[in-house]
Amino acid sequence: MIKSKLPDVGTTIFTVMSQLAIEHKAINLSQGFPGFDTYPYLRDLLAQYVAEGYNQYAPMTGVPELKKRIASKTANLHDVEFDPEEEVTVVSGATEALYAAISAVVDIGDEVIILEPAYDSYAPAVRLNGGTPIYVPLNLPDFSVDWQKVKDAISDKTRLIVVNTPHNPGGYVWTGKDLDQLYGLIQNREIYVVSDDVYEHIVFDDNRHLPLYTHEGLRARTFSCGSFGKTFHVTGWKIGFCLAPKKLSQEFRKIHQFLTFSTSTPMQYALADFMENPSRYIFLNEFYQKKRDLFLKGFKELPFKFIPTQGSFFQVVSYAHLSNEKDTELAIRMTKDFGVACIPVSVFYHDKQDHKLLRFCFAKEEEELYKALELLKKLRF
Ligand SMILES: Cc1ncc(COP(=O)(O)O)c(C=O)c1O
Repeated sequence: MIKSKLPDVGTTIFTVMSQLAIEHKAINLSQGFPGFDTYPYLRDLLAQYVAEGYNQYAPMTGVPELKKRIASKTANLHDVEFDPEEEVTVVSGATEALYAAISAVVDIGDEVIILEPAYDSYAPAVRLNGGTPIYVPLNLPDFSVDWQKVKDAISDKTRLIVVNTPHNPGGYVWTGKDLDQLYGLIQNREIYVVSDDVYEHIVFDDNRHLPLYTHEGLRARTFSCGSFGKTFHVTGWKIGFCLAPKKLSQEFRKIHQFLTFSTSTPMQYALADFMENPSRYIFLNEFYQKKRDLFLKGFKELPFKFIPTQGSFFQVVSYAHLSNEKDTELAIRMTKDFGVACIPVSVFYHDKQDHKLLRFCFAKEEEELYKALELLKKLRF
């Protein structure tokens, strides 16, 4: 028998809820993927590169054209220069970027601070590399960071902190003050940062995504992980990237080299061409703002409490004032009896703390969102 390295890890809730949604023909607002297709032009570009024979291994660190586009996007949007050849690496999804970055830093016995609720891939990556996750709860109800708690969690063994902005599931977007606070806590220590920025182009109202690398001190220690899946509605392509200073990128690439070696060649060429026009990512905010506003307008007529999400394509709502039902049970009941699937937020906590919160994904067609809102009106506690 194999001695499991992750004995407590089973099928994720995302699979369970999506399966349940299919079984009960429910509207699936659980898993975080767009309910609409990508741009026809991007599909055509991919087909074109496949037809033209771009079908063999790409360079290990990525196709130069795409790395240049990523670097120029970062320079245009945030006025920060990354060397496309030394500091930009294309990988097979942000999940790979997160794993490779965590693996590059974490050694046996190291402690890694994870802010909870947290995306589910961070802790297993830490554990598989012999590290120990140290969980720090985010403030409720807004999912901001409790800096005193982070300070208290730092020990002599702390080697890394994992950041996620805009935040999944909470939708909190880090501010300049957060960046300063983080740097203040780690500047005199050799502590690195993995920043999960997959929702960088999905930010609402007056909020702005502020990547950690815009802070000079943090730039030297940060692996910034991005996802084309989220930005261009192609989550099934599993393609992303990592931005990090040269020395960090060198170590990152050593891991990437033996995880996947390289990433889909025709997809890289297609994305490089597609990104020629910056409006394709700049206007994503507006595109999703409409969906968020429509969804929240409907939610105002429902008995839930919520703070409008600042970023990502998720909204968390509370029913703590309505019922004591477990969030997992309510999510299952909603799917089976009312035809709408969502994710119970307790699954984003290592100890399954139940704050009576549910996460809904609104990256869906308007019609589907209206339908879900109609169905939710029938919900009884
Ligand atoms: C916070 C966060 N990080 C990473 C990912 C994974 O991104 P990718 O599909 O590019 O691996 C997701 C996908 O849901 C996510 O929500």
